[in-house]
Amino acid sequence: MSPKNGNTDTVYTLKIFRFNPETDRELRYDTFAKRFPYGTTVLEALLNIQETADDSLAFRFSCRSAVCGSCGMLVNGAPVLACRTQLATLIGNQVLIEPLPNMEIIKDLVVNMAPFWEAYKRIEPWLHSNGDQPPEKERLQFPDDEKKLDPYINCILCACCYGACPVLGFDEQYLGPAAIAKLFRFMKDSRDQRGLKFLAKVDNPDGVWNCRTIFRCIDACPKDIRPTDTILALKRKLTLYRFKKFFRVL
Ligand code: SF4
Ligand code: SF4
Ligand code: FES
Repeated sequence: MSPKNGNTDTVYTLKIFRFNPETDRELRYDTFAKRFPYGTTVLEALLNIQETADDSLAFRFSCRSAVCGSCGMLVNGAPVLACRTQLATLIGNQVLIEPLPNMEIIKDLVVNMAPFWEAYKRIEPWLHSNGDQPPEKERLQFPDDEKKLDPYINCILCACCYGACPVLGFDEQYLGPAAIAKLFRFMKDSRDQRGLKFLAKVDNPDGVWNCRTIFRCIDACPKDIRPTDTILALKRKLTLYRFKKFFRVL
């Protein structure tokens, strides 16, 4: 075994989940032992295996640079972007590669992301005006207002958080961390005029009250978005709103 010291190629054993619902009766894992240079990413290793050993291996990718969000998968049990995860950063030389959980398997590492997109659509992720005449160009915003969006705008919709969330493992109606964080991003946007309608979207059993505050979505996010924080902030807002409503302050 050679060290992962940047000078020498290293042999890795990749154990990859395989399942084609159209032809397979049972899922299986295929194992490939290959030598890879220092700096090889999991995505590059998968491409190498596809090109040299098994061209039927299915996985998604596009940008290869942590931008498109299509290569989310489980590597050694953790939801990650395959294109951003170098083999050398993993513990040991055995690498377990599996599809993201909480979504139906289409083939091998490719999952059906329809429920993720459905949840995203439910929060209506676009600017809502109050019906005023739209400006000729864009709706302007003060730089200080724009800064408030910074913690939430880098989401690449990779669904790593969706795959990490234990609640979605038993309740697929739950909106999930990415959709709620996106709703919060629009709520913080000075140009969005939805007002209290924001709260109605998440004040239900499929919304923020379904979150068990387990923080796995934060650990999973490759863009350092903190969905749990947005969920807790929305819970606080809803509690305050109910309190004020009860005492007729509103
Ligand atoms: S904090 Fe909530 S949304 Fe995030 S993983 Fe845990 S249960 Fe899911
Ligand atoms: S919040 Fe993070 S983990 Fe979730 S979809 Fe967006 S970028 Fe991916
Ligand atoms: S290939 Fe685009 S994020 Fe990994």
